[in-house]
Amino acid sequence: MRTSFFGGRTPCFAGGLAALVLSLGGGAATAADVQAANPVPRVVTRDGRHALFVDGAPFLILGAQVNNSSNYPDVLPEVWPTIKRIHANTVEVPVAWEQVEPKEGQFDFSFVDTLVEQARANKVRLVLLWFGTWKNTGPAYVPEWVKLDGKRFPKMITASGQPHYVLSPHSRTTLEADKRAFVKLMEHIKQIDPQNTIIMIQPENEVGSYGSVRDFSPAAQKLFNGPVPAALLKRMGKSPGSWKEVFGDDADEYFNAWSIAAYVEEIAKAGKAVKPLPMYMNAALASAFGRQPAATYASGGPVHHVIDVYKAAAPSIDIVAPDIYTRDHAAYTAYLGYYARADNALFVPETGNDTEFARYFFATIGKGAIGFSPFGMDDTGYYNYPLGAKDLDDAKLELFARNYTVFEPMMREWAALAFAGKVWGVSEPTDPKANHTQVMELGPYRATATFGQWQFGTDKPTGNPQPTGGAAIAELGPGDYLLTGFNTRVRFDGTQPGSGQMLRVEEGRFENGKWIFRRVWNGDQTDYGLNLVDRKQVLRIKFGSAQGAAIIPVGNPN
Ligand code: DGJ
Repeated sequence: MRTSFFGGRTPCFAGGLAALVLSLGGGAATAADVQAANPVPRVVTRDGRHALFVDGAPFLILGAQVNNSSNYPDVLPEVWPTIKRIHANTVEVPVAWEQVEPKEGQFDFSFVDTLVEQARANKVRLVLLWFGTWKNTGPAYVPEWVKLDGKRFPKMITASGQPHYVLSPHSRTTLEADKRAFVKLMEHIKQIDPQNTIIMIQPENEVGSYGSVRDFSPAAQKLFNGPVPAALLKRMGKSPGSWKEVFGDDADEYFNAWSIAAYVEEIAKAGKAVKPLPMYMNAALASAFGRQPAATYASGGPVHHVIDVYKAAAPSIDIVAPDIYTRDHAAYTAYLGYYARADNALFVPETGNDTEFARYFFATIGKGAIGFSPFGMDDTGYYNYPLGAKDLDDAKLELFARNYTVFEPMMREWAALAFAGKVWGVSEPTDPKANHTQVMELGPYRATATFGQWQFGTDKPTGNPQPTGGAAIAELGPGDYLLTGFNTRVRFDGTQPGSGQMLRVEEGRFENGKWIFRRVWNGDQTDYGLNLVDRKQVLRIKFGSAQGAAIIPVGNPN
């Protein structure tokens, strides 16, 4: 504890909150984590909540993913300015199988060396994306010697007996070849990166198959007619039988998911045996609501309704993660809910880089996510519209930059609070039924966020001219809350006797774990609700009550 402006009642942030939160759970390994020199990053789960530990403490990925072909030394100068501009602390970069093993058995990791060196010079961490057997389900990134040898490296076969475009997960030769290259990559990482500039690995990219629900090759068919593996039966609480008997209409997709997950498990496990970095797989998503025919999305990929299959088949995969490109608020937040599970840390490794995506940072981290990362963040002149932006002008970059600038100096504290289950967040809704309002239930308080309202709050919220609003709250201690966000008006109401009233609102910032005071908000700035405008503002709000005092709503009721 250290004296704060709250009279020493709240735990201070001076290097301490992360450690404090860790010590609360009494987890066996936490002290060792903090002390060990250069502990390897890992995902830690406790009481159904998660943290990505980097350098022995929780870390929030303020991420950016580069375009697919930005993985060559000559292009990196077009990457760093964008990364700097948005204040990302982590960059996700592909490493392609074709790039590191252009000739069978001959490996070249010079790009990885350059990348790691430049990442260090730019003071960012890295997530490496292994583009191997599958990239957006296809084999585009395998070396030519794989592409040209369909006999050794067979494709899936469709139900009508035709070769499909996707490499079969039932080929031992393909698996062994991919695994060998991946293990070489991990060996190289182990050798050149004792300080863990690389904090996480994504083996493969958006696996699955479009257009065919699964592999119908004779080898696959034989397995499909055989028994469902015990680990999956156990996980799903099912009795033994063939895939069709156990899973009925879902059998084909579940079988494909199991086959692909088991294949990647073997690769990830072999890689982790070299260096146990956290590994995640990203999902090309199925529809957020209802079920489409499996062949219309990436069947067999880690879509939300097969997460359990992945958990059973791939214990070496720490996280399955949604690539969220929908602009729709209801769908976006539904996906966040599907992937934020007691057995799965929420991580958004890809999202659109257009105006309306920046605000989803708040709903994402409010669910305790370990990170968030817009895609296509470089200056190579490529834009993946309509998924993301048509172009990346400075106004768009600023929307991502302002989020990261606010969180950059307090990302450790935020990640620790998320691990302790003390965070909330909302993003501006666009569905008219939401009335431009979102509610965060904090326990003793309810925080109501409204968007597009006069600062006095006397009108009805109509939404911002563009959906750019978002807010996040953390509970630092009893009656002690942190609030930040943009283009959002927040009103707090007590929910129980003794909730009390808002006593003091300070604007400030965290620096090196210390709260730095800027000013007190009072008068018009608090009498009519708290208006987070387009400036970078972090508020610390203290509530309290005289014994028996009535609950006083904070802000003018609207
Ligand atoms: C999702 C993939 O994972 C990315 O590599 C990229 O292809 C985007 N889709 C589209 O730009």
